[in-house]
Amino acid sequence: MTEHPHVSGSYWLQTAPGPDRTVLENDLRVDVAVIGAGVAGLSTAWELARAGREVAVLEADRVAAGVTGHTTAKVTVLHTLIYDKLRRTRGPEGARLYARSQTEAIERAAGVVAELGVDCNWEERSAYTYAREAGHVAELRAEADAAREAGLPASFVTETGLPFPVAGAVRVTGQAQFHPRKYLLALADDLLAHGGHIHEHTTVIGLEEGEPCRLTTDTGATVTAGDVVVATHYPVFDRALLFTRLSPRRELVVAGTIDAGRDPDGMYITPEEGTRSVRTAPHGEQRLLIVTGEHFTPGTGDTRSRFQHLADWAAEHFPDVTLTHAWATQDNDPTDTVPLVGPLHPGAHHAYVATGFGGWGMSGGMMAGRLLTALITGEECAWSELYDPRRLRSTVREAPSFLKHQAQVARHFVGDRLRPPPPVEALPPGEGAVVRTGGGRLAVYRDEGGHLHALSARCTHMGCLVSFNAAERAWECPCHGSRFDTDGKVVQGPATRALEQREI
Ligand SMILES: Cc1cc2nc3c(=O)[nH]c(=O)nc-3n(C[C@H](O)[C@H](O)[C@H](O)COP(=O)(O)OP(=O)(O)OC[C@H]3O[C@@H](n4cnc5c(N)ncnc54)[C@H](O)[C@@H]3O)c2cc1C
Ligand code: FES
Repeated sequence: MTEHPHVSGSYWLQTAPGPDRTVLENDLRVDVAVIGAGVAGLSTAWELARAGREVAVLEADRVAAGVTGHTTAKVTVLHTLIYDKLRRTRGPEGARLYARSQTEAIERAAGVVAELGVDCNWEERSAYTYAREAGHVAELRAEADAAREAGLPASFVTETGLPFPVAGAVRVTGQAQFHPRKYLLALADDLLAHGGHIHEHTTVIGLEEGEPCRLTTDTGATVTAGDVVVATHYPVFDRALLFTRLSPRRELVVAGTIDAGRDPDGMYITPEEGTRSVRTAPHGEQRLLIVTGEHFTPGTGDTRSRFQHLADWAAEHFPDVTLTHAWATQDNDPTDTVPLVGPLHPGAHHAYVATGFGGWGMSGGMMAGRLLTALITGEECAWSELYDPRRLRSTVREAPSFLKHQAQVARHFVGDRLRPPPPVEALPPGEGAVVRTGGGRLAVYRDEGGHLHALSARCTHMGCLVSFNAAERAWECPCHGSRFDTDGKVVQGPATRALEQREI
């Protein structure tokens, strides 16, 4: 067994900290306000600035420090297994449009890297979806066939660069991997150079739609804008209740150095073993091996042992690896597989959303930038209907995964209240637990100094009980994935309010 990996934080954030941007202090009037500076928000803002719009980006934390700052950063159209499913649910034309929209987004990003001379370790690689068990071969062959029919350079292969045999794999050539923060920080600089505004540590707390729209922020300053884009990962101001069509999926990442000669020279993913995703990145004379997997619903199970499994897997298959980093993040799976990019709700005229990238938001976020810019500037876009969040025709097909998600929510809403809580006295430093008191359930954390910190255990989104993730020292809600730090502050939505402080 490898040594238990210490949760170090993201390699991308540590190797590209980036400059601080100012807090919004004065009222602002712009053509478009973009809420959220992840890959979706920044790509949209940048495209709009290039289309001649004055844009303001408002970011609660820092540029590209959310999910985008913790991703694996493969830039590929091969989204595990999607084309055979799309061919069945959206028809061959739907699958073709998906492939084309994602391909054009990647070509656009490659063009931006070349045009701006961005040093973001952009490397062209083949992408593979592989399986080790023979039982998956028919599925992989169908995926290769559907991807080819959708217009992609895809084939079924049995040889890969991985250091173990596979039963089969789908390979798509001409894909890419990069350093996501180096790319997005360059995009942010270019946006500023084109008259855009970026404000960090500025949380948007209110949206009044109209002509113009009006945003209020926690700094007290307001932003007036003709159009607004909500690119906050989980949509805040979720008037169409999109959260009911999104399931949060948290995943772990471990990374470490390997000898350059052992580079598997490709980007790999398998749906087996709770997902395993592998890529490498330049790291001096060596390569940095990045392994992702062990997906789970936030707030469920033991994250420490999951990190251990992932580290053991990396060490078993890449015996010379020296693990240096471990981190985690989560994405939202849309119930019908296709991201939700377009008008925020059925009555929206000037408010737009980009969410539900299902683990593939690099190309998806870049695609969203192009699509939302087309919608705002009144251009035609062949795939606007495919991604339209107002789509209804797939509702029946979505029903099974929608009902599964709601059943899981209900289980956490009721079931967690019935489990016997542990005694507070038994809580060791660095641990947290939900305990029952006369005043209801409390989320109690004991810090390293032995002091207890008590919060209401009710998630401020819709009241499910939060649960403690000891490896990452955070309270997590299993219902829709909200996360809070040990002081109760929101780390990730859909919740927008902190857990209430309580006495213990
Ligand atoms: C482990 C893992 C690995 C992945 N690997 C890949 C990969 O290899 N390739 C790929 O294509 N995709 C990958 N993904 C998916 C991809 O990382 C995400 O889909 C993408 O980063 C989401 O980007 P975003 O802009 O929607 O969200 P974010 O990057 O989270 O940006 C949203 C921003 O909004 C801000 N915000 C929230 N609320 C407010 C508010 N009220 N006011 C102001 N700002 C606010 C947040 O602070 C945040 O910065 C992976 C996902 C996971 C979980
Ligand atoms: S995230 Fe919805 S209830 Fe907690």
